Amino acid sequence: MAYKVPDLPYPYDALEPHISEETMRLHHDKHHQAYVDKANSALAGSEWEDVRPKEILTRLAELPGDLRETVRNNAGGHYNHCMFWRSMSPDGGGQPEGKLSRAIKDTFDSFARFKETLTEAGLSVFGSGWAWLVFDGKRIFIVTTTNQDNPVSDGLTPLLGLDVWEHAYYLTYENRRPDYIEAFFNVIDWDVVAERFAEAPRPDVSDILDRTVSISGAQKRYGDISYDDARTQAAELKALTGWGPMAKVGTVARAWTALSVTLERHGAATVTDLEPSEVAQMAEELWIVPPSRSMV
Ligand SMILES: [Fe+2]
Repeated sequence: MAYKVPDLPYPYDALEPHISEETMRLHHDKHHQAYVDKANSALAGSEWEDVRPKEILTRLAELPGDLRETVRNNAGGHYNHCMFWRSMSPDGGGQPEGKLSRAIKDTFDSFARFKETLTEAGLSVFGSGWAWLVFDGKRIFIVTTTNQDNPVSDGLTPLLGLDVWEHAYYLTYENRRPDYIEAFFNVIDWDVVAERFAEAPRPDVSDILDRTVSISGAQKRYGDISYDDARTQAAELKALTGWGPMAKVGTVARAWTALSVTLERHGAATVTDLEPSEVAQMAEELWIVPPSRSMV
């Protein structure tokens, strides 16, 4: 099953004035097509012919040596551009909402700081490459790649890729890469990026969520703990602070307060609604599961 350049999900001129029709025609019809043609010709007749590009990019080391670089560049070019077209929309721009917005604030403090960081990353790529917003199952951050490499090869989930090859902007912006990046922010489809974030692999914490905790003498499942439960538990433990046999009680009381703050900040009804990485980290701090690292 040979690769094929997908149709754009909008007309060629839909991203004007930010990305010109001329740029889109050249970028999509010529550059992307060239990656597809070269990938198909390299893979034809090999046992990799029917393997999806994403899987190939996670198994590059297994490719025969004479195919590896060609496939890496061209299956990479195909996969990256498929993502890129879907990351933009004439109705794009603005800022993400919901869980993705909170994840951006957790890492970058603000959307403005995130924008600055992605811009700096895009400008830092020497020659041809990409700047990416990625997720590792715990947090989001920014990486850059050269040529047509994709972060999926490093076990990361790419959420948004910014193409900083000159072919992506030169017709309109000439050598002014900063102006192109500024324009790109006006067409980012944050709904698509948020979908990728929602669907990204995360650690399985179901066994942690099923642990039971005693709240005011009643057994409750950790995953069902609400803001009020966390506040109650924090207040009861604070009342015990200083009682010798419970040396760690102050630390654990603070962890319950922190849990209530996190639930409130994320608009989460219960612990189950939090990011799995937070569920696991908080469970350690609350001593619901044994800490994986030293408490010293
Ligand atoms: Fe490109």
